[in-house]
Amino acid sequence: MPGIVIVGAQWGDEGKGKATDQIGERVDYTVRYSGGNNAGHTIVVDGETYALHLLPSGILNPNGIPVIGNGVVVDLDVLFEEIELLASRGVAAVERLLVSANAHVIAPYHKVIDKVTERFLGKRKIGTTGRGVGPAYSDKVNRLGIRIQDLLDESILRQKVEASLEQKNHLLVKVYNRAAIRPDEVADHLLSYTERLRPLIADTALVLNAALDAGKIVLFEGAQAHHLDVDHGTYPYVTSSNPIAAGACIGAGVGPTRIDRVIGIMKAYTTRVGEGPFPTELLDDAGEKLRQDGGEFGTTTGRPRRCGWFDALVVEQAVRVNSFTDLFLTKLDVLTGWEQIPVCVGYRVNGELVHHVPMTQSDFHHAEPVYEYLPGWTADISGARSFAELPDTTQAYVKRLEELVGARISGIGVGPSREQVVMIRDLI
Ligand code: GDP
Ligand code: IMO
Ligand code: MG
Repeated sequence: MPGIVIVGAQWGDEGKGKATDQIGERVDYTVRYSGGNNAGHTIVVDGETYALHLLPSGILNPNGIPVIGNGVVVDLDVLFEEIELLASRGVAAVERLLVSANAHVIAPYHKVIDKVTERFLGKRKIGTTGRGVGPAYSDKVNRLGIRIQDLLDESILRQKVEASLEQKNHLLVKVYNRAAIRPDEVADHLLSYTERLRPLIADTALVLNAALDAGKIVLFEGAQAHHLDVDHGTYPYVTSSNPIAAGACIGAGVGPTRIDRVIGIMKAYTTRVGEGPFPTELLDDAGEKLRQDGGEFGTTTGRPRRCGWFDALVVEQAVRVNSFTDLFLTKLDVLTGWEQIPVCVGYRVNGELVHHVPMTQSDFHHAEPVYEYLPGWTADISGARSFAELPDTTQAYVKRLEELVGARISGIGVGPSREQVVMIRDLI
């Protein structure tokens, strides 16, 4: 029964962690299905702030089982740091964590290559998080990756690390002018985790399908977002995995008919980190005000996020490709205090008015936003707990976004804390 997917509808940092935590108490399994510790999910519970990068946000729910699916790339240093940190803060569910035997490992050399590649690209850099995510996925597709299960067989692991480093060392030394990396050192480092990892390793696809058969609730927690998807996002300014809803099937090992609900998380305005097109970006005081009011600084890298008005075309594409059944609108409280709020309802591309994200990247880069101006509100909405308690103009803003993007908004975030939410309909 209920398989629920949560997906970011813009360029990440929409508040997926908070949305996951919101329904967490009723969920039996929370699964990360893509990405790695490039993600940064901040959750505030009882005044305590948790910043999770690799572990699913559902880990903060005392009842459920957290799972790292096969589609995730795992930095073992980060995995055990996060486990220890949460254990020291009394988070009991870390003891139940399961890690897919098929998940790939981010090895130390992936991090080195991520950084030198970005430096080499110079002006054309992607602005990655530098966590080795892209190079780890490249190795996976190139069939040179190291999987979690390889740590259970020392001789296989050593062979695979050696094979993976052979080409890379040529590249590092001859192209990037860096020291070669010793395979035995890498293998020793990875193997130092084997005994701690062994009890966590599972055939997680088997576990999750059995759970769904038994009527359990499984929440597939997306990281990154639609427009960072390697197939559907603003390529090449994307991450190297498939954060979209369909990615949950691949990255967790369940079929599409297992998914009952797909919840898109969308911010009441737009942000992005790193390079790439962003038609509604504000480079003026208004952008700075959104950044300050929304605390828009990266959870993972601390970089100031680029900020701009809500772009309905960006979300409309995500609604279409992900088949969202519901949207969760976050950070509506951050928009309090504007006399009027611009919302992008079209683009002007080469003099022509368009209503969808353009087919080509060149056109997207040149798209000029066309705005509709909605009346703002001044009342503090952070204490609202029902839709009726929101000012009329706030309600009108929400309804207009629904119309523009073509999906219903079922929950609204009015502050960072767990209880700061207006639920319109149940998400499970
Ligand atoms: P994620 O990557 O999608 O999980 O989002 P991040 O955690 O990177 O960024 C979202 C930030 O907004 C976090 O600091 C959250 O605590 C915060 N947040 C989430 N929902 C709301 C909301 O409704 N209002 C406000 N003011 N902050 C929120
Ligand atoms: P959450 O889950 C925002 C961006 C990076 C960069 C691009 C590629 O917190 O929403 P990568 O390190 O993945 O190769 O970087 O993707 N990026 C994110 N931006 N939120 C994220 O995750 C992101 N994960 C990656 O900034 O532009
Ligand atoms: Mg984030």
